[in-house]
Amino acid sequence: MSEKMTVPLLDLKAQYATIKAEIAAALEEVLETQWFIMGPKIVELEKAIAEYCQTKFAVGCSSGSDAILLALMANDVGPDSEIICPSYTFFATAGSISILGARPVWVDIDPVTYNMDPELTRKVAQQCTNLKAIMPVHLYGQAADLDAFLKIGQEFNVPIIEDAAQAIGTRDLSGTPAGTRGQIGCFSFFPTKNLGGYGDGGIVTTNDEALAESMSILRVHGSKPKYHHHVRGINARLDALQAAVLLVKLKHLESWHEQRRANAETYDRLFHDAGATTSAIPLSGGGDGGGFPLRTPHQLEPPAKHIFNQYVIRVPGEIRDSLREHLREAGVGTEIYYPIPLHLQKCYADAGGQEGDLPESELAAKETLALPIYPELTTQQIEYVAGTTISYISQHAAVCTS
Ligand SMILES: Cc1ncc(COP(=O)(O)O)c(C=O)c1O
Repeated sequence: MSEKMTVPLLDLKAQYATIKAEIAAALEEVLETQWFIMGPKIVELEKAIAEYCQTKFAVGCSSGSDAILLALMANDVGPDSEIICPSYTFFATAGSISILGARPVWVDIDPVTYNMDPELTRKVAQQCTNLKAIMPVHLYGQAADLDAFLKIGQEFNVPIIEDAAQAIGTRDLSGTPAGTRGQIGCFSFFPTKNLGGYGDGGIVTTNDEALAESMSILRVHGSKPKYHHHVRGINARLDALQAAVLLVKLKHLESWHEQRRANAETYDRLFHDAGATTSAIPLSGGGDGGGFPLRTPHQLEPPAKHIFNQYVIRVPGEIRDSLREHLREAGVGTEIYYPIPLHLQKCYADAGGQEGDLPESELAAKETLALPIYPELTTQQIEYVAGTTISYISQHAAVCTS
């Protein structure tokens, strides 16, 4: 093995170095105006994001979590409402539902894409008594099956609210941007996202003018005009400084996506050369039923486009944590998204979720590992991460039950 290298999971400093002057100028412009909350920079960002996503409207807000919250509030979601969502996702997907007193109704994932399974969604929807919306997540930056979800939404007469927090610029099988075919798309500008701000931020997209208006009022305490509150809203405003940063970064977004995709292709090639296949072939209970026991992310056929917010591999559960530790000792940062599915989290214990309820989500939580994929990675770094991973698995795969 080559000499030890340091490869963090994400290196935001490397990106900052390439746009430092542009960012300084954009921040300076806002500082000169001293207009920090809402205002023209927010309007400019909303127009730019609506254009990028190909929707009629975009409404900036304080985070991806609040984007979901606003979408649900605009749909009058409240106590006793049921919202279908995956359990294998970041907490905020369900947290924003629960905070309104509504109930997340969990659906298992398709183990190939890690996105919510449409057929299971239909079955679960049949059992709901007060279903208000279906919320697929475009996990890791790959599109959920919107064609199927839109049909199910029609069947049950409920809107599709897309959690597109990890998927700005993602395209689905029809080539349409994620977060735009459902009633509302919810995006996050958390710094680790492909379009990340320098703090918290988010945005909702929609083609429905009334909903756009409703969410833009809800985010400012429900007031319009100021101090006239017709609805009970929240403070979910976006800062002008964040909008200025995001406008600069948006210009680079497509090239960063392409770099991430090229990095994924390099990993894929190195892993497949070692005998690995994609997650389309199961790991068969931890063994090597499909060759080398590593699965690369399955990608949907073009014009679908995965933006690789995360590059997540799958390895037998018996060696996942020790592989992660080995990579850490070798200087490589990794993360587990997500180690405990939401139906098994302590805060949802009163909802009665049990081990075995969602087998694919539970298995993915034991077998997946995110590797560094950020745009500025060098080929040498990718080769080092892949090489270290391959040699560890080669030496330890024998411990796996097949
Ligand atoms: C799938 C998903 N949903 C929602 C969120 C919430 O976004 P934010 O962190 O901006 O509140 C995130 C961000 O981490 C996410 O990954």
